Amino acid sequence: MLSIIIPTYREADNARPLVQRLRAALDGVVEYEIVFVDDNSPDDIVARVAELQREGAPARVLVRTTERGLSSAIYHGFRETRGEIIMCMDADLSHPPEAIPKMLDALRSEKTEMVMGSRYVPGGSTDNDWGWYRRLNSHLGRLLAFPLTKVRDSGAGFFMMRRPVFMRATNLNPIGYKAALELMVKSHVTEVREVPIHFTDRRIGESKMDFKVQWQYLVHLKRLYDYRFGRWSQFLQFCLVGASGAVVDLFTYALLMKLGLVIGFARALAIWLALTWNFALNRTLTFSVSAPPPLLQQYWRYGLTCLIGALVNWCASVGLTHYSDWFHDHKLCAAVAGILAGTLFNFFLSIQWVFQPKLRP
Ligand code: GDD
Ligand code: MN
Repeated sequence: MLSIIIPTYREADNARPLVQRLRAALDGVVEYEIVFVDDNSPDDIVARVAELQREGAPARVLVRTTERGLSSAIYHGFRETRGEIIMCMDADLSHPPEAIPKMLDALRSEKTEMVMGSRYVPGGSTDNDWGWYRRLNSHLGRLLAFPLTKVRDSGAGFFMMRRPVFMRATNLNPIGYKAALELMVKSHVTEVREVPIHFTDRRIGESKMDFKVQWQYLVHLKRLYDYRFGRWSQFLQFCLVGASGAVVDLFTYALLMKLGLVIGFARALAIWLALTWNFALNRTLTFSVSAPPPLLQQYWRYGLTCLIGALVNWCASVGLTHYSDWFHDHKLCAAVAGILAGTLFNFFLSIQWVFQPKLRP
């Protein structure tokens, strides 16, 4: 049996056309149920689905009142149903029900753990009127997911899997839209097949994708990177934060000099501001934990760490230049080595002493 989960928020007008197309594509092909997971929309979807049910459609609706969110609605539907094959799709007819039999076929092979309806494999497509901004967003989103999976359309909301594959996921932490990506990582899915689909733009209702959802995607990615790559992911973030701090430093310095401050003072202020900037980002992003230690304690420890880190940097670069002929001829390389040593020092002390994050297993 196949359980088709359809998350909805303000999609009442789409329920009937979607159910009709599902029935046309699936009646007599597979045993299935259609389960809407609605987050208490201010519309009459419950009555609409009841009407469809009276007409013989294998459809029902689960209403959540305490939670909102696309990915968490999908997991809720997966947990509340019994089909040995589970799938989800959008309610707005973007995903073609006619592709489901092909997706089932693809899942039939023993090895395949998950099947995605994909826009970005040969034969897949989208409507033509996607503006450049939407395209850019979509492709940037895919690019950022590539270290996690080789799947071409990892952001798709049209996918199917065997229930045991879903059940073996640990530490699910749904945020935003990309449920499939989280499941690939946390169920350790290796065999994914992509079935080409045409993605149609919605005709009825409005998209719920907004800036908040896009921001959530970045937070989601960070968590998945941390989950998959652990300390390496944190180190990458630590370096990115450091790079942004360098920009803050240079801008502030230039500004203060324009204002006519004494160089020594301007330099000190710029460094201090950049250090504080780095601290804030590392505390809230790189090493974010739900219950962080006291702010001031962390702040002075971080400041001290950076001071000693600077000393390590200085000693390494000056020492190398002094004692090695090669570095003597390549002084910038010695400086780079110093920066590297200082950064590593800062990073390890940040982990051990300043932020002490508890990584999720
Ligand atoms: N229950 C529930 N709760 N459902 C929601 C919520 C929510 O908070 N937010 C959105 N949905 C439902 C919508 O009602 C719709 O059925 C489906 O989730 C997709 O929402 P859209 O607002 O239509 O999103 P989209 O078209 O921008 O995004 C789709 O395409 C993206 C790729 O371009 C989704 O399939 C995404 O998963 C996908 O990444
Ligand atoms: Mn949509």
